[in-house]
Amino acid sequence: MSDPLLPVLAEIARQFEASVERLAAFLRIPSIGTDPAHDADTRRAAEWLARELQTIGLDASVRPTGGHPMVVAKGGAPAGPRVLYYGHYDVQPPDPLELWQTPPFEPTVVAGPHGPRIVARGAVDDKGQLLTWVEAMRAWMRVHGTLPVPITVLVEGEEESSSVHLEPFIAAHREELAADIAVVSDTNMLAPDRPALTSMLRGIVYLELTLEGPSRDLHSGMYGGAVPNPLNRLAQLLASLHDARGRVAIPGFYDQVRPLAEADRAAWRALPFDERAFLAEIGLEGSVGEEGFSLLERIWARPCLDINGIWGGYSGAGAKTVIPARAHAKLSCRLVPDQVATQVRDLLIRSLHERCPADCRIAIRDLGCGDPIRVPTDSPFVAAARRALARVFGCEPAMIGCGGSIPVVASLRRLLGLDTLLVGFGLDDDRVHSPNEKFELVCYRRGIESHAALLAEFARLGGQP
Ligand code: BES
Ligand code: MN
Ligand code: MN
Repeated sequence: MSDPLLPVLAEIARQFEASVERLAAFLRIPSIGTDPAHDADTRRAAEWLARELQTIGLDASVRPTGGHPMVVAKGGAPAGPRVLYYGHYDVQPPDPLELWQTPPFEPTVVAGPHGPRIVARGAVDDKGQLLTWVEAMRAWMRVHGTLPVPITVLVEGEEESSSVHLEPFIAAHREELAADIAVVSDTNMLAPDRPALTSMLRGIVYLELTLEGPSRDLHSGMYGGAVPNPLNRLAQLLASLHDARGRVAIPGFYDQVRPLAEADRAAWRALPFDERAFLAEIGLEGSVGEEGFSLLERIWARPCLDINGIWGGYSGAGAKTVIPARAHAKLSCRLVPDQVATQVRDLLIRSLHERCPADCRIAIRDLGCGDPIRVPTDSPFVAAARRALARVFGCEPAMIGCGGSIPVVASLRRLLGLDTLLVGFGLDDDRVHSPNEKFELVCYRRGIESHAALLAEFARLGGQP
């Protein structure tokens, strides 16, 4: 029997320029999900994607939620393993705008050390990555007229804001979304020629807190030294959240943390990871963190707490002598197995209330939670993904961790009993969430080819209805 993948790979090659054009069209839509001013754009991105999925031949629609809509699509063969593809069409805000070399929503192809790359907000996170499987499906459909396994597509518009409407949607559409395995391309690989499967994701707790002192902003000469300054107090409170050795100083914070397996540590040590280059790329010479752990272990398998923003008082040009009435901060924790996001959130909230200075009032807002997750590495689906990546790249994929969070993965496990294949094509230097975000076109191309190879491997698994 002839290999069904070969003509698909030829079609991918023939179509690659058009695939880049489609990515550019998707990237031109400023779907900044967290910014209400861009609600219409965000919706437009969902509609654009649903239309593309229809063009391919899938039964696709835009579905309302309490927030940004879901794009759901169905298609493929009636039998075989049922695969659920997930992605997100929302992107992070592009600011600070002045640091972009080209406008964030005018995608530009520029030359780099790995060949051409496309620069735009969302290039790799996640529009480019999600189009890797869309374009693979497109090529497969063109060549074979249908997909080799039953597939469902679920693409959301709130991943960058903690996926608040995702779980209710999944719970309300269990039958429609039922599958045997989920596939997500929203993580990294080691290098353009070094593929990887991600086996763990950190979870997240995100809080906003406000300290209130005097009932209005005050002249700092008239009152300074004699009244509580919420910004001084906030600085003291935030400084108390770590100890001198870099550990999070919240009692109980580490209680549920599963110790790192020796086998994982050994495997990660053997990875071709250049710590100095990783740091040099972000202008650093050294790293920080918990004693006794390597840089990769700290990022992939240890929890942490970071201040994401602090504001209040005066931060405009020149000097203004003021004691502010309020001070604010945004805080996030990254979590690892077996921490439970809601439990850590409650612990943190309680601890912040306890630390609230007697002369201030504290208000805390929950901006979202996501559980950490480990995905199995020994299933037939993982074996299929290994074969697919090995075939396209000519070498075995590495098993890596990821310090970021993708809330859907834990939700799919909990609500649908589904495991996820995390097959990512991003690189560490892609500037995710930063100015000048990019996606290497070689990664885009190999991502599309990998997803075609994965479809072929899924088909060979056969079996399940
Ligand atoms: N795709 C990222 C996760 C990621 C980050 C993978 C870096 C690989 C490298 C995802 O879109 C993301 O940014 N998630 C947020 C989730 C949060 C807002 C709930 C994150 O990790 O901050
Ligand atoms: Mn993402
Ligand atoms: Mn992101």
